[in-house]
Amino acid sequence: MLVVAPDAVHVWLVRAAVAPDVEALLDDAERDRADRFKFDVTRRLFVAAHGALRLLLGRYLERPPESLRFETEPDGKPTVDGPVQFNLSHSDELAAIAVAGPDRAVGVDVDRRRMPKSRDGIAQRIMTADELACYESLGDEQRGAFVLWVWARKEALVKASGRGVRETLTALACEPTADSPWSVVDLDVPGYAAAVAAAGHDWTAELRAFHG
Ligand SMILES: CC(C)(COP(=O)(O)OP(=O)(O)OC[C@H]1O[C@@H](n2cnc3c(N)ncnc32)[C@H](O)[C@@H]1OP(=O)(O)O)[C@@H](O)C(=O)NCCC(=O)NCCS
Repeated sequence: MLVVAPDAVHVWLVRAAVAPDVEALLDDAERDRADRFKFDVTRRLFVAAHGALRLLLGRYLERPPESLRFETEPDGKPTVDGPVQFNLSHSDELAAIAVAGPDRAVGVDVDRRRMPKSRDGIAQRIMTADELACYESLGDEQRGAFVLWVWARKEALVKASGRGVRETLTALACEPTADSPWSVVDLDVPGYAAAVAAAGHDWTAELRAFHG
């Protein structure tokens, strides 16, 4: 059994290469989605992520993993039929699953560190005026890391609120102020830009490795 304290957010890292065989836990809809991936490597990560999600949430909710039912909020955020909140992100060979108590919405994002192709264009599309000024003050070698850092934090924030693409990113600060309903922290994941966001400011993130 797993318990998440009211002032904690757990973030589980799932590596496709070491995840146990969890495909049997998926329901028909999840298996259909898995089968639509063209590349084996993306399919494997999707299966590992969704199987791990069922195993973990089952432990928090003390229910068999196969019995969990997922629904989707109007803007696309998945929810589970039990008193726990979660969010999922996957990139390359890694998935992250954030779990919090029933009153704390969460969002998580992991992105493989790769140099974005149109770095300046992305900066203009996602940054506030202050963030853009900071970006432009940086040297060439620091700009890529800054874009990825801002990107991961904003993705985590929009996923916590569940608004997804409806959020105007140039109006959303990647460092929410004390009066914001949200806060966000960076996650130390080598090779990835990663962040978790959640409702309120009275929580800390605990990073954990999922082994099965
Ligand atoms: C879905 C979205 C929220 C995240 O997608 P992504 O970064 O491509 O992918 P991630 O791996 O981080 O997250 C995907 C998972 O988030 C979850 N998800 C889907 N819609 C969501 C939503 N509206 N809110 C929160 N979580 C969502 C799902 O579990 C999904 O996994 P699944 O497809 O395996 O079920 C994205 O499409 C989006 O709207 N992004 C924000 C807008 C933007 O332009 N961002 C640019 C960078 S700041």
